[in-house]
Amino acid sequence: MIQLKQQTAEKIAALAAGAFPGGSLTADEVCNMLEYPPEAAMGDLALPCFKLSKSLHRAPVQISDALAAGLADDPLFARVESVKGYLNFFFDGASLAARVTDEVAQQGGKYGSPMDGVGKTVVLDYSSPNVAKPFHIGHLGTTVIGHSLKLLHQFAGWQCIGINYLGDWGTQFGKLIVAYKKWGDRKQIEEGGIDRLVELYVRINNAIDDTPEGKALADEARAEFHKMEEGDEENIALWKWFVQISLAEYEKTYRQLGITFDSYKGESFYTDKMPAQVQKLRDAGLLKIDDGAAIVDLESYGMPPCLILKRDGSTLYPTRDIAAAVWRKEHYRFDKAIYVTSAQQCLHFKQWFKVVELMGYDWYDELVHVPYGTVSVNGAKLATRTGNVVLLKDLFAQAIEKVSAIMAEKNPELAGRSDIAEQVGVGAIVFHYLLGSRIRDINFTLEDALSFDGNTGPYAQYTYARTCSVLRKYAGEAKWRSETATPEEGALAKTIALFPERVRAALAEYEPSVITRYILELCAAFNRFYHECPILSCEDEKQRESRVALTAATRQVLGTALHLICMATPEQI
Ligand code: ARG
Repeated sequence: MIQLKQQTAEKIAALAAGAFPGGSLTADEVCNMLEYPPEAAMGDLALPCFKLSKSLHRAPVQISDALAAGLADDPLFARVESVKGYLNFFFDGASLAARVTDEVAQQGGKYGSPMDGVGKTVVLDYSSPNVAKPFHIGHLGTTVIGHSLKLLHQFAGWQCIGINYLGDWGTQFGKLIVAYKKWGDRKQIEEGGIDRLVELYVRINNAIDDTPEGKALADEARAEFHKMEEGDEENIALWKWFVQISLAEYEKTYRQLGITFDSYKGESFYTDKMPAQVQKLRDAGLLKIDDGAAIVDLESYGMPPCLILKRDGSTLYPTRDIAAAVWRKEHYRFDKAIYVTSAQQCLHFKQWFKVVELMGYDWYDELVHVPYGTVSVNGAKLATRTGNVVLLKDLFAQAIEKVSAIMAEKNPELAGRSDIAEQVGVGAIVFHYLLGSRIRDINFTLEDALSFDGNTGPYAQYTYARTCSVLRKYAGEAKWRSETATPEEGALAKTIALFPERVRAALAEYEPSVITRYILELCAAFNRFYHECPILSCEDEKQRESRVALTAATRQVLGTALHLICMATPEQI
């Protein structure tokens, strides 16, 4: 597997050991010091040698001069320059192109995978909407970041279990049952689906907050939920129906995103699994009674207490998460459990992870919380309870509609246009969302996301389709055969060679945006190559074949990368 930094670092460490006996320097240390310079004139890779002075006991210039001389004949590099204590490496474009095209052709869809997850299991808890509340743009983050992390782990060989931990239990169902009994109509809900449920939910919340009978309604809702907890048949049947209607709706959105889950075990599943954990906490002497409620004191860890039982004995969000983690550990024997939620839940996860540790579960350090920032649309923040939200399905529908209109104009003959419009419209939103690092707050504007020429999803998919179109017109296999490379060919080969490193970084940081940004780099390098270097019309046969080989490698890597961030890859747009 090509790893530019790693391989360069190994050469340097070996050379340094011979040239500077008595010094100590490992390849990993060098690897961390190597930088990709901001300008091409400074090389493809650079090593600031002042960082080596201490371990090699020499002045930086002395070190860089000696290393440059030692690497002068290395075939990996066209040249290595020593400039004021910096070692600048210039890769040989042609030999790099020969290597990457070969490797990509051999490994296909596996090219870039670190394969270090083989034999290990990860469970990923993501999306997890609360039933009967709207599935809105705030859920986009957990849904696409979570799924992308699943795809990245799968790519690295992990066995992945995607869990949709539906918010399918709680007092909101009491409210919904009251609202349904008062104002609901079965037929209307059957036809209108989740929207009718959300309307009922919003209506009852408003009534509770703003009307004289509000208090009585709230009491009624609590009583209905209590009946549900006791197993009341009518209420359980209603609850099941509400869940099923909501799920049918979510699945439409998941289908548009190409997402499937391995488990839909929601909060309700863990109801009977909590008492054992509460008992364990009690037996371990971890529970403290505070104003009637049972808590775990976390003061010595600099955190507010973790709430386990309310005064009336009912369980809470953390209680359920603890029980769920224990069940999942027993059931899936995971090596890692990832939870993707908004950053507002950071404290919640820190608290209950600590409680799991205090309970003596030695796998507490396999729990990972992956938070993300808030989303607003055209500057407006979300308000869930009042129903004033941008629904995910509406956002997708708008994007698809706009893309359809553009396509109808630009490419009216295209077969399967409506499916492609869906892939491009939904992809535009996913791409736009996954472009910034996950923890940053994002303001969403549809205009930005949908542009075909900016740094957008449509642009990336269009570039992919462009590679397909070149390859459709070339029959047979192509290998890199040129002895030299143009700057654009060299730059494209180098970008392809960077992919394995980027995949590692994305996994290590739980950061799909590393891949999204890589996609833009790859598209830019390919498009520069495409405009500067004639491919199929190239006169020289060797060069033509070499360029086709580079195009094929680009298609493979771009396809893999797009897949890793939940984007479809239509071959024509
Ligand atoms: N349903 C929760 C919410 O919408 C998210 C659940 C996250 N997962 C978890 N295991 N707590 O806020």
